[in-house]
Amino acid sequence: MIPDDFPDASFTGGHPFALYERLRAEGGLVRHPRLPMWVAASHAVVHAVASDPAAYRSGGGILIDEIGRPFDTPPTIMHTDPPDHARYRGLVAPAFRPSVMRRLEGEVRARVRALLAPIEAGRPFDVVGELAVPLPLQVICLLLGIPEDDWPRFFRWTEAIIPGAAPELSAEERDTLHLECGTYLLGVAHERRAEPRDDVISQLALAEPAGERLTDMELVMFLIQLLVAGNETTRHSISGGLLAFAENPGQWPADDLPAAIEEILRWTSPVVYFLRAATRPVVLGGQKVEAGEYLMLLYGSANRDAAAFGPDADRFDAARRPEAPGLAFGYGPHFCLGAALARLELRVLLEELADRFTAVATEGVPRYNGSPVVVGLRHCVLKVTGR
Ligand code: HEM
Repeated sequence: MIPDDFPDASFTGGHPFALYERLRAEGGLVRHPRLPMWVAASHAVVHAVASDPAAYRSGGGILIDEIGRPFDTPPTIMHTDPPDHARYRGLVAPAFRPSVMRRLEGEVRARVRALLAPIEAGRPFDVVGELAVPLPLQVICLLLGIPEDDWPRFFRWTEAIIPGAAPELSAEERDTLHLECGTYLLGVAHERRAEPRDDVISQLALAEPAGERLTDMELVMFLIQLLVAGNETTRHSISGGLLAFAENPGQWPADDLPAAIEEILRWTSPVVYFLRAATRPVVLGGQKVEAGEYLMLLYGSANRDAAAFGPDADRFDAARRPEAPGLAFGYGPHFCLGAALARLELRVLLEELADRFTAVATEGVPRYNGSPVVVGLRHCVLKVTGR
């Protein structure tokens, strides 16, 4: 029996891992107890659905609204299916190529060093506020081409846009901030149309995916999506990853950095779920799913599945080298466009931290945000030991 605290639009707190385990034990695909949709909890089912856009579409909406209905948006990269999806993705994919990431590394390292400068051994610091919030925000603003003086405004704006990330805000306040952000971005996009620069806003402002420029609405939706996608998610992997090292003494610093980064992503899985809708009747996870029925893909649950990651899947192991693909970035054609960027930020941060500090420990009790969609730490005090 699925309990009432099952993830829906009112879900708060960190991932409910005990519940995930029960759902996987029930077969990996179960009916949601209150919403008219299926819940995919096992690695095999989440992987199968995400891999097959012909059978499971994103175009009908990938998130649920406050009352639990899937909501559709104007078409964007995340809300389109092949072949339109490739057109949207092609507009921004060049900005995330490995060669661009390599060029960005020096800039990321400089930002990391500046953020680490005030962090001293023995002084408790909030890893969320001092590292995990500013780093991805600075990097995505840099890539998009937002003038540096305006970066602080984006923290408030992205908090307002992610459902549940800033529970103290009223619906009106959130709407106002959302509108402010959109208006601001449109202003910058119009400036870039007149005077293009080497940045993502200029690329999008001038792009003609179907022989025509994006409308103002499409442009704003796209930019907001990039801003939000590149921000909150990476934040939670940075803070959750450092907390994992603090809670698992002896694993810091990691000998195998690429493995540690994948383990941090598996462990934190900041995206709780995205939806897909079946395009035709299918048999999946032993269940019959009808055409049009929605499925909620629980990435955090798939990433703790013992069938994919072994009997110690519930343990943080920075040296883990699993054969199964981690699903924190999704899978298939919608695989996270910013994956290389997020990995770059994590790698540079871990390298620079390991150069300075020999151990990391917790101070006090970490607090989670209340987002039903992008889950992670809101406050987490750590202490490092110097070399
Ligand atoms: C740890 C950090 C991150 C995590 C866990 C994450 C997670 C995800 C997931 C699960 C998806 C799949 C969406 C789907 O299947 O419908 C996705 C897509 C996407 N992500 Fe990320 N993301 C991260 C960082 C970033 C960054 C830094 C960016 C930079 C802008 C970014 C931009 C995107 C975009 C544009 C898509 C849509 C791709 C598409 O639909 O083709 N993400 N991400």
